[in-house]
Amino acid sequence: MLAIIGGSGLSQLSNLDVMSREIARTPYGEPSSVLAFGRLGGQEAVFLARHGHQHTIPPHKVNYRANIWALRDVGATHIVSVASVGGILVGLLPGDLVIPHQVMDYTWGRAATFFEDEGDPVAHIDLTEPYDARLRQSLLEAAKAAAIPARDGGVYAVTQGPRLETAAEVNRLERDGADVVGMTGMPEAALARELKIPYAVINLVANHAAGRNDSRQGIIFDKLEAVLQEAMEKVRVILAHVSLPGEDSSDHKS
Ligand code: HPA
Repeated sequence: MLAIIGGSGLSQLSNLDVMSREIARTPYGEPSSVLAFGRLGGQEAVFLARHGHQHTIPPHKVNYRANIWALRDVGATHIVSVASVGGILVGLLPGDLVIPHQVMDYTWGRAATFFEDEGDPVAHIDLTEPYDARLRQSLLEAAKAAAIPARDGGVYAVTQGPRLETAAEVNRLERDGADVVGMTGMPEAALARELKIPYAVINLVANHAAGRNDSRQGIIFDKLEAVLQEAMEKVRVILAHVSLPGEDSSDHKS
């Protein structure tokens, strides 16, 4: 079953035909929202709102462990994460979609592993390729089938937030090799890998990153909502076109 974690601008999936809702509990606490089960584009799907239904949970307070655990518990076989970002790469425009292939973690202090309780074996998962190659391919094919442009590849830098970056920080991220910057991609990707659930991301460019282009003098918040709304419509269509790779899709072993 496909699981979708919706970020800013996607606290509901209007094209998900909701059939039931469940409040999940996990050893790590409660996930960010109730789980909504239904059908999306003909297949079973479960939806979770990362920041809560009323968008009340900031990126550094999201219970990433409870979210991933709850999705695994209800039988999610693949997770697609939707996350809005600022665009760093020249040419990326607000409203563009990116299917990143790499991630860099600048977050701190977040509960980032399932393997830390007393008596747990130490686990070092392989995260060389943080995203599932076949699930990424499915997303790209879904976008193509829906005639929606989506960039194949990008390096997603994840900052702690909730504040946005300084212009100098964005310059540093660019020097580090980042193409987009957001606040929620980690530890989500690592936690999904710990539980061996194929995971991939759709980044939605909400704005030019701080100090760039029309964000040179500051990020203009008035515009963000409209950009997010419009781009999320494209994301909804892509999600409805995704056909999941086989259950053995995990192209990594850990
Ligand atoms: N920086 C970090 N996170 C974001 C941004 C940004 O510019 N835009 C949307 N999420």
